[in-house]
Amino acid sequence: MTIESTGSPAADDTGTATVTGPGTGTGNGTGTGSFYDEVGGHETFVRLVHVFYLGIAQDPLLRPMYPEDDLGPAEERMRMFLEQYWGGPRTYLEQRGHPRLRMRHVPFIVTPQARDRWLVHMRTGVDALNLPPLQEATLWDYLERAAHSMVNAA
Ligand code: HEM
Repeated sequence: MTIESTGSPAADDTGTATVTGPGTGTGNGTGTGSFYDEVGGHETFVRLVHVFYLGIAQDPLLRPMYPEDDLGPAEERMRMFLEQYWGGPRTYLEQRGHPRLRMRHVPFIVTPQARDRWLVHMRTGVDALNLPPLQEATLWDYLERAAHSMVNAA
């Protein structure tokens, strides 16, 4: 999985591995044994992202960055992305195309401070899942590294 910026548009974001993701097995999201299935599938990602966006909604630094008044569609995009990344349905790709997340974040000023706020809310989301330690560590490790790779301003 490549999540660091290489400067290449094709390999510069967390989305590089997303088209297949780390746990897809057959790669079509319908096989068994994906991380997506292991952690509880759709409901798990709904909860993770919902709790995260409750935090975003209250965050004085991050909330103004979100262009839409309604955070619902942003919540859905994030959920679809994460579901796909972890081997679930590939709806994100169908609706949004290749993730290219670093590129999609260029319009937003992502400072280390913004990243740390983002991670605070994701941490709350991950905690709400009560996953077994190994799964929790796997998910959190990815989110932390992805967030670090998204920083684009000092
Ligand atoms: C590090 C701090 C981050 C900040 C401040 C941030 C902020 C934002 C903002 C303001 C948007 C636009 C909301 C929308 O209308 O969709 C967005 C979109 C998005 N972000 Fe982030 N983001 C961060 C990190 C991440 C990370 C680490 C991931 C993935 C693991 C991620 C995944 C997404 C996705 C999937 C979208 C929707 C892209 C699309 O399809 O248009 N973000 N982010």
